Order: sequence, then C-alpha cells, then structure tokens
Amino acid sequence: MLLIVYHSATGGTRAMAEAALHGARAEGQDRLLHAAEAGPADLEGAGGYLFAAPENLASLAGVMKDFFDRTYYPVLDRLQGRPYAAMVCAGSDGQGAARQIARIATGWRLREVAPPLIVCTRAQTPEAILAPKTIPEPDLARCRELGAALAAGLALGIF
Ligand SMILES: Cc1cc2nc3c(=O)[nH]c(=O)nc-3n(C[C@H](O)[C@H](O)[C@H](O)COP(=O)(O)O)c2cc1C
Repeated sequence: MLLIVYHSATGGTRAMAEAALHGARAEGQDRLLHAAEAGPADLEGAGGYLFAAPENLASLAGVMKDFFDRTYYPVLDRLQGRPYAAMVCAGSDGQGAARQIARIATGWRLREVAPPLIVCTRAQTPEAILAPKTIPEPDLARCRELGAALAAGLALGIF
C-alpha cells in the first residue's frame, strides 16, 4: 500500500497530493494522510511512500518537519529498502526541502524510485505567497503519473 503524507498551508501541495492520490487509486492503492495525523504505525503499515511538502525558508515546512521529527526514531531500522518519492511545492526553488527529505529517507534506508517532483508557483510577494494556490493542469498530471507509477510498482512488486 502506498502512503501519501503531506502538508499544505495555501493549497498547492494539497492539490499535488490529491492528484497523486487520484493516480494511485487508479492502480488500486490509496492512503492520504495529513502530516499532523500520520504516525509511526502508518509508516510501518505501508509498503512505500510519497512525501509532499511546501518549501518554507529554504527548508521543509515545519508541520512536515514535525512529522519526520516525531516518527524518525520510532521507525528507524524498520523501513529499510522500501520505495519512496518526494513532491515539493515552492515559490521559486524547492531544492532545500527536497534535499532534506532525501537526507531523512537516506537515514531510514528508503530507496528513492523517482526524482523529486518540484512545482514552483512563482509566488514572490507577501500577498502572492499568502494567497490560495492553483496548480496548473500539466503539473497536476505529473503528480497523477507519479502516484500511479509508485502504486503500480508496489502492486506489481517491482520495487
Ligand atoms: C514562510 C514562508 C517561507 C517560504 N520560503 C520559501 C523558500 O525558501 N523557497 C521557495 O521556493 N518558496 C518559499 N515559500 C513559498 C511557498 O513554498 C509557496 O507559497 C508554496 O506554494 C506553498 O505551498 P502550499 O500552497 O502547499 O502551502 C515560502 C512561503 C512561506 C509562507
């Protein structure tokens, strides 16, 4: 089972995570949890992961970081070899958040099975940053495809 864990303040990452869920559902796999609701048992019970987060201040958004902080040690040495991928919603960069997820996943000995999918909303001013986000359809399609690919790989046991 594919577990998608996400956080979103202005809706961009949520739209990306829901698109990935849509793709995964088409392959018969789905579980979407907000970062604040997800815990160690959810991680242990899943076969693979899609982590989706905004980039804030060149880092993972705090709510997503808190998810990793709460779960990192309880599941350390229990997830080795499981596949994962990451999605980041950012204003203009996203690399810092993607790197942080990769380092955490390396500590868990997860296997990255797709490069990070970064969507930039081009929000620069305070007004634009705080406004609700609309993710363009081509980007949502990439998220759907990533969710479907992860789910299909898990279902077929090819990871
Ligand atoms: C406090 C704060 C800091 C941010 N810092 C960055 C940043 O360092 N790099 C970047 O590319 N975007 C940054 N952004 C922009 C967000 O990543 C962008 O608005 C994104 O769409 C948020 O995702 P969400 O709609 O899922 O909340 C920041 C936004 C906020 C609120």
